[in-house]
Amino acid sequence: MPVTEPVLCKRIPTAPWGDPKDRHVVSYDEYVKTGGYESLEKALSMKPAEVVDLVKESQLRGRGGAGFPCGLKWTFLPEPDGGRRYLALNCDEAEPCTFKDRLLIDFDPHLVLEGVAIACYACQLDTAYFFIRGEYHKQAKVVQNAIDEAYAHGIFGKQGLLKGKSKQAVECYLHRSAGAYICGEETGMLECIEGKRGWPRIKPPFPAVQGLFGRPTIINNVETLAALCPIVKKGKDWWASMGCESSIGAPPSYGPKLMGVSGHVNKPGVYEVDLGIKLSTLINDFAGGIRGGKKFKGAIPGGVSMGVLGPDQFDAEMDFDIGRTNQLLGLGTACPTIFDEDTDMVAVARNICRFFANESCGQCTPCREGTSWTYKILCRIEQGNGTSKDLDMLLEIAGSMGIVSGTTICGLADGNNWAVRTIVNKFRSEFEARVRPSLVAVGVTVGAS
Ligand SMILES: Cc1cc2nc3c(=O)[nH]c(=O)nc-3n(C[C@H](O)[C@H](O)[C@H](O)COP(=O)(O)O)c2cc1C
Ligand code: SF4
Repeated sequence: MPVTEPVLCKRIPTAPWGDPKDRHVVSYDEYVKTGGYESLEKALSMKPAEVVDLVKESQLRGRGGAGFPCGLKWTFLPEPDGGRRYLALNCDEAEPCTFKDRLLIDFDPHLVLEGVAIACYACQLDTAYFFIRGEYHKQAKVVQNAIDEAYAHGIFGKQGLLKGKSKQAVECYLHRSAGAYICGEETGMLECIEGKRGWPRIKPPFPAVQGLFGRPTIINNVETLAALCPIVKKGKDWWASMGCESSIGAPPSYGPKLMGVSGHVNKPGVYEVDLGIKLSTLINDFAGGIRGGKKFKGAIPGGVSMGVLGPDQFDAEMDFDIGRTNQLLGLGTACPTIFDEDTDMVAVARNICRFFANESCGQCTPCREGTSWTYKILCRIEQGNGTSKDLDMLLEIAGSMGIVSGTTICGLADGNNWAVRTIVNKFRSEFEARVRPSLVAVGVTVGAS
């Protein structure tokens, strides 16, 4: 069930509606000619609390990975007390295989900035930080240029939002990330913006109460903020007409979603589809099918931290229930990476753990040691030097570190765990074929260090 007309990615060339010949950054003038900043104008005609209510009722869920309800998050802010209040826009996008936010800012930066202005108005925030991935050199220039245009046209600045239509003034700054994956974790990002090492903070206090520089802060993903524009313009019922209800009594997955498909497909790219689309439909109808006519073996649904789908989960529905319905951590960024039948799943697991071991910030011992430990065990198995005991060890380590088991500060370790657990469990025979039986029974332990 593809969306009938593009909502967010109408200007993204790899989307089915896009024409590669039109590949360019949409300027302020062009954006305004096609109805740009009308949503902000409409939002300013409402009271801030009414905008918050609209977003709450739309049931928009965060597009940064966790799917947390956006409007609900906004209600955690305390009442304004005259001091500073911040918006931190998360455009770190360092999750491997995730590239949807990049295309939004590559082609439509004002859609995102309009969302920033709407969120600041609704939540009564006076300062926005656009936190962008360190490696996004070209995109940083595009965003800075768009911010300059927005200032020049009175969107941001001392006169108040939209040339003073609201008394509320918002300043917007671009902040470039330090280039580590952990800087995308929301409190790691706050530390980074404050000029420190991007080490996640222990919560509580939560950022809505005590965030940037100790002040109330809302953190949202690029795509979440971009979605505010059409929601304000067309309303909650229109938003709910796309996507799907939950099949397990959880909150719904409404709206379209940008899904960046990569891996063994014929047409990798960013596609805008309804949440709830079957993975098989996304691959076959949008991404041109599996390369070389090969069979589907598995997929990462959205970022390597979510775990892996197995061969019998080709028809998995890509909605926010996917974690519970398909034994995963969650939908994540909804940017699936597809594996064909020839993929070596031991190598996939080893590669993923290498990433997490490299990117662990090292604050928590279970994560610092556990991610490297799983990586070393997987190297051993891949090279044919592992034993069956290593498989149990992998699952034991993966079951005992992470924020879910209460032993780490942030969710990076959980990403490592879910990859290990789902790959070992769903592709166990591949691992068993690579390991030797353990010699513990005769008093000799092989490869258990
Ligand atoms: C290790 C780690 C890395 C993350 N990286 C990103 C990221 O690059 N971009 C992002 O939007 N969210 C990222 N998140 C999720 C953020 O912490 C946060 O939930 C999100 O930005 C909130 O935005 P949303 O509610 O609009 O989805 C990451 C989380 C973890 C644990
Ligand atoms: S879980 Fe890992 S990445 Fe997160 S704070 Fe602890 S050591 Fe750092």
